[in-house]
Amino acid sequence: MKPNLETSPFATDGDRAFSKMPLWHQEKVVLHMPGHISGHFFSCDDCNYLISTDTTELSLSDNLHNPQGTVLEIQNWMQELYGSGFSQILTTGSTTGIQVMLSSCLRPDSHLLLDRRCHMSAAYALSLIGCQYSFIQDFSTAISQNIASDRPESSTISPLSYLMDEEHGDLSMLSMIEHGLCTRKDISDVLITSPDYFGRCEDITRIAEIVHQHGCRLLVDEAHGAHFVFGDDNFPDTALKSGADIVVQSVHKTLPALTMASLLHVSCEAIKSKRVNPSRILSMLQIFETSSPSFVIAASLQMALRRMDKFGRAQFSIAAERLHALRDRLSSVPGIDLISGGAVKNGDPMRIGLSFARVGISASQVAIELERRGFIVEMHSPSYVLMLFNIFNTQDDLDALLSALKDIVDGLSDSDRVDPTILAHSEAIARALYTRPPERAMHVRQAIFQSENARTHKLSESAGMISSGMLLLYPPGIPILWPGEILSEAIVTQLSYLIEHGTSIDGIVEKSIWVLDNTNSNA
Ligand SMILES: Cc1ncc(COP(=O)(O)O)c(C=O)c1O
Repeated sequence: MKPNLETSPFATDGDRAFSKMPLWHQEKVVLHMPGHISGHFFSCDDCNYLISTDTTELSLSDNLHNPQGTVLEIQNWMQELYGSGFSQILTTGSTTGIQVMLSSCLRPDSHLLLDRRCHMSAAYALSLIGCQYSFIQDFSTAISQNIASDRPESSTISPLSYLMDEEHGDLSMLSMIEHGLCTRKDISDVLITSPDYFGRCEDITRIAEIVHQHGCRLLVDEAHGAHFVFGDDNFPDTALKSGADIVVQSVHKTLPALTMASLLHVSCEAIKSKRVNPSRILSMLQIFETSSPSFVIAASLQMALRRMDKFGRAQFSIAAERLHALRDRLSSVPGIDLISGGAVKNGDPMRIGLSFARVGISASQVAIELERRGFIVEMHSPSYVLMLFNIFNTQDDLDALLSALKDIVDGLSDSDRVDPTILAHSEAIARALYTRPPERAMHVRQAIFQSENARTHKLSESAGMISSGMLLLYPPGIPILWPGEILSEAIVTQLSYLIEHGTSIDGIVEKSIWVLDNTNSNA
C-alpha cells in the first residue's frame, strides 16, 4: 500500500535540521551545482516518484551492477545518446568513475601520464593500484627551454603561461604529452581533465591522435562536461566524439540530476580495437562502488537526460547566446576582468570566472555581497569568483546579476580595497602550484600506506619535509601537493602567502600540516 504522504504519523516539528542551512533561505539565483538547482527542476510528483524508486535489488527490480531489464534498456539508450560503445550509470559520482576507469586500465607494472590538475580521486586510485606515474607538466620545462633557445624573442615565456595564455600555443598540453610519450616509452595510458573547473577545454582530437599513435589509451575526466552532448556550435565537442577511449562525467554537476549521478563511457573504437574491455570496468565497479547503488540517483539521471534530449538542445542554445551577451557586457565594466569561459577558444559557455584584482577588490568580498543579494556562486577565493550558469537562469536573472556586480564594485570604499599586487600574487601562486609539479620523495602509495610517524608540523618550518597528506583547494578538489611530495622552500612560502591573504587550503589546519619523518624513498 502506498503511504499517505499528508498524514505521516512520524512527522514531528523541528526534525529538518538541514533546512536551517542559510542557503535555503537566501538563495534567489542559483549559480552553482547541482544542475537541478536546488530541486527547481523536479515537481512534487517527480519527488514522490524518485522516493518510490528507492529499493534494493529485488526479483521485481533490476540490478545496477548486473543490468538485465530496465537498467539495460536505459544504458543502451544512453549509449546512443552519447555515441559510446558502452555506458555505465554510476551512483557514487565521478570519484568512483575515475577510480574504476584507472583500475580497469592500469596494472602495478603500468605507467600513467596524467594532468597535474587531475581530481584527488586519481591520486587515491594510484595509491591503490601502485603503478608508476608522471605528470604531463613534468615535461613543460624541457620544452620551454628548447623554445627559448630556438627563438630568443620567446625568452619571456614562463613555463606556467601555457594555461592562461593562448598565444603561447607551443607550450600546449599537446606538446607536453607528446614529449612525455616520446621520453617514457613505458607509458600505457594518459589521463587528462577537460573541461577543467573553469570550463577550459583541451584539444582532445589532436591529443587522442598522438596518444593513439603511441599505442596508448586516452582517459578523460569530463566531470564538468556532461552537457556538451546537448550543445550547439557554441559548445565544445564531447570527449567521446573527439577520440577519447574512456570518459567519466558528473551528470549532476551540469545537468538536472541528483548529486552523484554520473556516467562512465567507453568509445566504440576502443572496444572494437580491444584497447578497452568493458567487462573489466564491470569487475572494477564491484570493488569501488557501493554494493547498494541508488535507484533514486539512477532514476534522476534518466529523467534529466530524457528531458534534456527532448528540450535541452534549444535551452542550451538560448542560454549560451544570453551568456555570450552577458560576457560582452561584463567585459566593458571597469574593474571587472573575465578570467575564463566561452570567450576563451573551446571553453564551456556556461561558466564565467571573474577577477577584480586589478582594482584591488577581493573576489571573496564580492561573492559575500552577491550572497547578501541572493546570488549564490559556485566558488570564490580572494583572486576570483566562479559562477556556473544553467538553463533555468532567466534574462532577468542575468540583468539583475550584472547590475548587482556593478553596484558592488562601485559601492566599495577605499578602505574595503586590498593591495592589487597581493591579489595578483595570490592568483599567480595558485596557478603555479597547479602547474609546476613539486619534487617527489616517494610514491603516493608509500606515503599513504607504508609511512609511519606522520605528525603535524608548523607549515612555516616544514621546508624540505615530505607531505603525508594531500593539500588542496576545495572545491574543486584538485591537489596542490600529493602525499609523498617534498615541501620546497618556495612552496612553503607560497602556501603561507595564500593562507595569510585569506585562501583556505584543505590539509592545513592552524598553519600546521601533516608531514612524514620517514624519508625512505621509493619514488
Ligand atoms: C575535475 C573533477 N573531476 C572529478 C570530480 C569528482 O566528481 P564527483 O563529485 O561526481 O565525484 C570533480 C569534483 O568536483 C572534479 O572537479
